[in-house]
Amino acid sequence: MTSEHNLDFATNAVHAGQKPDSEAGAIMTPIYQTATYVQESPGVHKGFEYGRTANPTRQALEANLAALEGGKHGFAFSSGMAAISTLMGLLKQGDHVIVTNNVYGGTYRYFQQVMTEFGLTFSFVDTSELSAVQSALQPNTRMCFVETPTNPMLRLTDLRALSNLCKSHDLLLAVDNTFMSPFYQRPLALGADIVVHSTTKYINGHSDVIGGVVVLNDDHRAERIAFLQNSVGAVPGPHDCWLILRATKTLHLRMPRHNENAVCIATHLQKHAEIEKVIYPGLPEHPHHELATRQQLDPYGKPGYGGMISFQVGSWQRAKTVLENVRLFALAESLGGVESLISHPASMTHASVPEADRRKLGLSEDLVRISVGVEHAQDLIDDLEQAFACL
Ligand SMILES: Cc1ncc(COP(=O)(O)O)c(C=O)c1O
Repeated sequence: MTSEHNLDFATNAVHAGQKPDSEAGAIMTPIYQTATYVQESPGVHKGFEYGRTANPTRQALEANLAALEGGKHGFAFSSGMAAISTLMGLLKQGDHVIVTNNVYGGTYRYFQQVMTEFGLTFSFVDTSELSAVQSALQPNTRMCFVETPTNPMLRLTDLRALSNLCKSHDLLLAVDNTFMSPFYQRPLALGADIVVHSTTKYINGHSDVIGGVVVLNDDHRAERIAFLQNSVGAVPGPHDCWLILRATKTLHLRMPRHNENAVCIATHLQKHAEIEKVIYPGLPEHPHHELATRQQLDPYGKPGYGGMISFQVGSWQRAKTVLENVRLFALAESLGGVESLISHPASMTHASVPEADRRKLGLSEDLVRISVGVEHAQDLIDDLEQAFACL
């Protein structure tokens, strides 16, 4: 779906892609819960033939997300993985892809255990080091697939610098922007060709939908993605689209609160006797703090570091004690919801990454990850404190 985006982020969040329904004037985009559409005569219709190909509720969501990312075309999918797997349809047998070594475990699994069976090859490198990307280049490299910040090590890649490198080697740069959301990072403006999200996370923000999106500017490539979206068929249902569309209206209100709370909690943890190390790009000690401050900006130019914090507590046993004793934080996979979550990446989200690779990434057994919600920061700190008291 194609979008227009000459309005402020907040205005687009509320309005982009949505106009009052022509039938009844409903202010909210209706849920077009239909599989097919009536035609007046063969081939004569209102632009909709079949629900997999197009749906008005989905189109509204696609236009809305494209506007928020500052992109021309948006394509919604039934999950983040459906978006990523459909995107890989831009490539062909024999192509090589350079991937951030600490990508989401499910992305790693899909690339390593599925796409390699179809003749694609992958090099997993630390894309925060441009020299590592340079060294991984092969004559058949076609794409760089990057996550920044990474999950759960929160390492950043300089998107402007990497996009220059990609352009000089004629590579597509695809960025998984799930962790920052378009509120704090707009990769297309930094030179990326394609943005992908698990909309399950911050974009939907209420932990009640699984979804994904691909946003891009290039018309020709967008045509191919539209073809793939329809051919593969991993599309979201209209009700899920409607829920996500409802959620994007408050993205610009939720994100600053996630950020504020996370800065407050990371600062508290940083000086805590029970914690060995805190990893949060908003802390001046983080190795990529300067890049985060330059690259992760809200639409008004103010830096934001997101709501994800990782910290080490010294051992798996101690991590387990914390995970079992929190009361407000819920022990669960996923992230980006209004409620705070806590997880153990080594045994949960990243269990599909081989142990040796986890060790290389620094993804240790004592690492705990929190997704800071929009509750009151002091209540969250008090909850962590009562769990630390059990150590
Ligand atoms: C950064 C990132 N990308 C992609 C995905 C996959 O998204 P989904 O679970 O919606 O398929 C996830 C899921 O956790 C993620 O964290």
